[in-house]
Amino acid sequence: MKIGTKSILFGTHQFAIHPWFVAAAWRLYGFPWDPRLWVAFVIHDLGYVGKPNMDGPEGETHPEWAARLMGRLFGREWHHLCLLHSRFYAKRLAQPFSRLCVADKLAIALTPSWLYIPMVRLTREIDEYRQGLRGRTRARVASNGWAHVDEESDWSWHRRVQDYCRCWAFEHRDGREDTWTPPAMAAVSVPESDRMQAREVGSAQ
Ligand SMILES: [Fe+2]
Ligand SMILES: [Fe+2]
Repeated sequence: MKIGTKSILFGTHQFAIHPWFVAAAWRLYGFPWDPRLWVAFVIHDLGYVGKPNMDGPEGETHPEWAARLMGRLFGREWHHLCLLHSRFYAKRLAQPFSRLCVADKLAIALTPSWLYIPMVRLTREIDEYRQGLRGRTRARVASNGWAHVDEESDWSWHRRVQDYCRCWAFEHRDGREDTWTPPAMAAVSVPESDRMQAREVGSAQ
């Protein structure tokens, strides 16, 4: 089974657990009364299914699946919300990240270590997430405020991830420009249809 599928079934993006943390994090913007938001909370990461990595060229395209579905169901604004929930993907498109991105990062900070660590170990996601400078997460390592420490325990690493994500979310909750995230480094090609939709939404704002 591919790591992306494992992540959705019993990893960090577990389909019945992760959406609740995203919903809790949405408190940054008030209670999520709009039912379309709840659809986004549930499906925004399902594009990981079948992906051979989490942060590599394939994994980084995971927002596309939900974005297309949301666009078809609810229109461009909702396509945009899901497509740009990844700050790296947003950088690649030269578009501002969406509010879902901010809630998604705060959701990581809200997920307790006793839940997170066993899940990333079970799926082996931790091997990729902690590759640091040597691996596919090198773009994250280059993020402003993040220091890579090879020797620390998984628990201490996760606490630092939580702190980092919480700081990123509170700093960027007003949608200000993201200067922390470096330009994406993996060679992901964004489908032209998604580029165009994002451009159209961007110019409509
Ligand atoms: Fe995601
Ligand atoms: Fe997510």
